[in-house]
Amino acid sequence: MTVDTIRTVAVLGAGTMGNGISHVFARFGYEVILRDVDESFLGRAKDTITKNLDREVKKGKIAEEDKSKILSRIHTTTDLSQIARADFAVEAVPERLDLKLSVLRDADKLLRPEVILASNTSSISVTTLAAATERPDRFIGMHFMNPVPVMVLIEVIRALQTSDETFRTTISLCERLEKKPVAVNDAPGFVSNRVLLPMINEAAFAVMEGVATAEAVDAVMKLGMNHPMGPLELADFIGLDTCVHILDVLHEGFGDSKYRACPLLRKMVAAGWLGRKSGRGFYSYTG
Ligand SMILES: NC(=O)c1ccc[n+]([C@@H]2O[C@H](COP(=O)([O-])OP(=O)(O)OC[C@H]3O[C@@H](n4cnc5c(N)ncnc54)[C@H](O)[C@@H]3O)[C@@H](O)[C@H]2O)c1
Repeated sequence: MTVDTIRTVAVLGAGTMGNGISHVFARFGYEVILRDVDESFLGRAKDTITKNLDREVKKGKIAEEDKSKILSRIHTTTDLSQIARADFAVEAVPERLDLKLSVLRDADKLLRPEVILASNTSSISVTTLAAATERPDRFIGMHFMNPVPVMVLIEVIRALQTSDETFRTTISLCERLEKKPVAVNDAPGFVSNRVLLPMINEAAFAVMEGVATAEAVDAVMKLGMNHPMGPLELADFIGLDTCVHILDVLHEGFGDSKYRACPLLRKMVAAGWLGRKSGRGFYSYTG
């Protein structure tokens, strides 16, 4: 399938990533079928997309009259059979292997044989997911970054089975969205999380060992290394539970102790201090 034949894109899951992915496809003229399991999640996603489009109007990125056109291209549904007319599909359901396998198998049965199925997984083996479908050569990882409308990177992950044609079409599609695709092969954590998470983990160890406060660690990395956010501020943004989960994937995948999660991270997760989403992590977000 070539990129020119793609007009309608199915997005499975209307959460943080699914709404951002739908926003970007619709903004670049694609019809979107956005599927979630409950109408309330779809309503919430449409509200978020509307707010984010308002922000883009204010910043002068899009015109006010474009907003309604973009929104009208996003068709929300709880009925999975609607995805049958899609020319490309992106899965963005929660990061659980059993759930992803079941959603991908169901989607695989409904999509036309030539359609490429992509997963936005941040840590599960794309090769394993591809193998669960009847289209392993038309399966690929498309790792969008959060927030999707703002971040330019898409890490494009080739499963062992991904064909050259699937790879080329996916890269071209990323470019049509004015994103920068970077190709990597399937390995635990791909490149993004394999490089980022050990830094976050080391920053947590520095705090745990009393080397410096969280503020000091972040200040060193922001002022000295020109990082826009310190690693611990970023950890709070990602969610400390997600950080531990990804470290566990790296630890298990490589069998190397250098990826063991810092005990302080585990302790904070046990306390329910998950970062921004729970109001407290390395920093406090209440009030
Ligand atoms: N949040 C991030 O920063 C981030 C960044 C990159 C990649 N990812 C990856 O993107 C994926 C989605 O993450 P998220 O943060 O958007 O999760 P989320 O929990 O915000 O959203 C997931 C959505 O999927 C829906 N869902 C559950 N079962 C479904 C089904 N059977 N069919 C359709 N929808 C279903 C849920 O109702 C929910 O609305 C995960 O694989 C995650 O690892 C997340």
